[in-house]
Amino acid sequence: MCGIVGFTGRHQAAPILLDGLEKLEYRGYDSAGIAVAQGGAAASGAEGAGAASVRGAQSVSRQTVGAGQPKGVSEGGTEPSIEIVKAKGRLKVLREMTDDGRSVPGTCGIGHTRWATHGEPSVVNSHPHYAKNKRVAVVHNGIIENYQEIRDRLTKEGFSFISATDTETVAHLLDKYYAGNPIEAISRVMFRVRGSYALGILFADRPGEIYAVRKDSPLIVGRSDQGNFIASDVPAILRYTRDVCFIPNLEIVKLTDREIHFYNVDQEEVEETFSQVNWDTEAAEKGGFAHFMLKEIYEQPKAVRDTVSPRISEGHVNLEELGMSQEDLAKVSRIQMVACGSAYHVCMTAKYMVEQTARVPVDVDLASEFRYRNPVMEKDTLVVVVSQSGETADSLAALREAKKLGYRVLGIVNVVGSSIAREADSVFYTWAGPEISVATTKAYSTQLAAVYLLAIGLGRAKGMIDGAAEEEMTAELLRLPEKIERILEEKERIQWFANKFSHSKDIFFIGRGLDYASSLEGSLKLKEISYIHSEAYAAGELKHGTISLIEDGILVVGVATQKSLFEKLISNMVEVKSRGAYVLGVTSYGNYSMEDVANYTIYVPKTMECFAASLTVVPLQLLAYYVALGKGLDVDKPRNLAKSVTVE
Ligand code: M6R
Repeated sequence: MCGIVGFTGRHQAAPILLDGLEKLEYRGYDSAGIAVAQGGAAASGAEGAGAASVRGAQSVSRQTVGAGQPKGVSEGGTEPSIEIVKAKGRLKVLREMTDDGRSVPGTCGIGHTRWATHGEPSVVNSHPHYAKNKRVAVVHNGIIENYQEIRDRLTKEGFSFISATDTETVAHLLDKYYAGNPIEAISRVMFRVRGSYALGILFADRPGEIYAVRKDSPLIVGRSDQGNFIASDVPAILRYTRDVCFIPNLEIVKLTDREIHFYNVDQEEVEETFSQVNWDTEAAEKGGFAHFMLKEIYEQPKAVRDTVSPRISEGHVNLEELGMSQEDLAKVSRIQMVACGSAYHVCMTAKYMVEQTARVPVDVDLASEFRYRNPVMEKDTLVVVVSQSGETADSLAALREAKKLGYRVLGIVNVVGSSIAREADSVFYTWAGPEISVATTKAYSTQLAAVYLLAIGLGRAKGMIDGAAEEEMTAELLRLPEKIERILEEKERIQWFANKFSHSKDIFFIGRGLDYASSLEGSLKLKEISYIHSEAYAAGELKHGTISLIEDGILVVGVATQKSLFEKLISNMVEVKSRGAYVLGVTSYGNYSMEDVANYTIYVPKTMECFAASLTVVPLQLLAYYVALGKGLDVDKPRNLAKSVTVE
């Protein structure tokens, strides 16, 4: 939720901030703003710093705040001050207001794109927020849980608030504690606030310096010979640098155009290491596709291949990277999986797969439930947290809860160096590359691949499958990318079908076993981007209430790939059809009796039943995409949603 970017260096900051915010719009897009330091040595010595600064048109959303000088515009870049420009709506509004950043000169600034939590989307609630005496500007991602109490106290002390946000309390607290030492002021704020935060901070009397700090919300630092950066996520700065450091929890960073210093909460300087991000810039661009979602759907063969092939050698699954010996794996008596959203659906698939392959019982919980339910777990339970971003607040809290209770935690994570990756005892990376679209596709597919590998490795360690079975399964896993490619070749059939149903009011998905897990994902994908009400049911549940919702013309998608359950699902499809439903069947080639009941059938290549979810999900993703497209919706940025849910 919310994207932060910051730059200090030898170029104009505002265009770089806007460029970075564009890459972060997936994290929130109801308003955006930038704050740029004006005046001082850093700005005047920089390339392009002498550019004309035209600030005639003052508006509620554009103001210059300074380090104690009279209110108004600072001309000539000598008097230190901070100029803030904010706009409600998509980033393009801010771009227009600032002439693509050209009208806000200065070489050090911070920017923010917002996903509203406290206070409606509006100019006044958008970031950056600043203290009344105009010394500090702040951008924030996260939630300050005790903000009301702090706000009440500060109000009594004479501070006045103009927004409804939790973030404004941080700006005033910094102002209160700041007596010339930014690190000290930030450290005092850290002791005073509860909750989660990634903060980018400017002090008006320190032009050229950015301060940043984080607790439980992601923030990275990037460095280059042209200047230094902060960002919520790598794609924001990938165009400028790949040399990044994931700021450790509870650390403060000071950036100037040439230096980066890290401090702990006790204000002691600490050393941190930088690493090279190997994502290329193109991976975070649309590359000719109309939407990131479609591009990412098409990247699935590569993403699955990248995730699977390095872990298979000579027919065997290699799980060495988990740091668990065969004995450790054999000792696992139970698996507790936790995740949110689509990653939770991966866990549902994993339950079927792991239980069948390794005969290890698997419990699946929504992370938001697990963290508060005081779980009862066996001694040798392995807790597996699945997350694309590695920053989902509930998943991270579930991980911490499990660790607190003394369990070993394995993270299946896509973003390298993210919080879950760092805090888990073992990490299994999915190599999906950057996923930008809010609706996950390729990350989901790679998570499925990861749990297959885990199930096979565990099955082997427990002696539940032999070498021949392992070889057969791994060979088929390696064939999955090519099978996904074949489905993509038939996208026009799905597109044609989707156009007929883009004006539906309700769409249901039914399946059994593994196909039920896929149905859940198909339904979520559809509802999140098309805004069509949709639900998925284990088909056997229909008669227990849901079937009363079926009426003439309603679309029911039946997913049926498992031989032992095929006839049962066909019967359920007959039941809904006889009550007026229009039935779309999704099954494997060869199951042609589907056509006896379905009004329309989509076939996917044959595979081993345990891997079928990797194939059936692809037409369901395309269905959701084309239905949303048919409705003219912004597929990549569905309303009310953000890519990374770093608040509870
Ligand atoms: O980053 P995570 O995998 O932890 O995110 C979990 C969910 O928020 C995510 O899968 C969400 O449901 C997607 N928007 C679904 O497409």
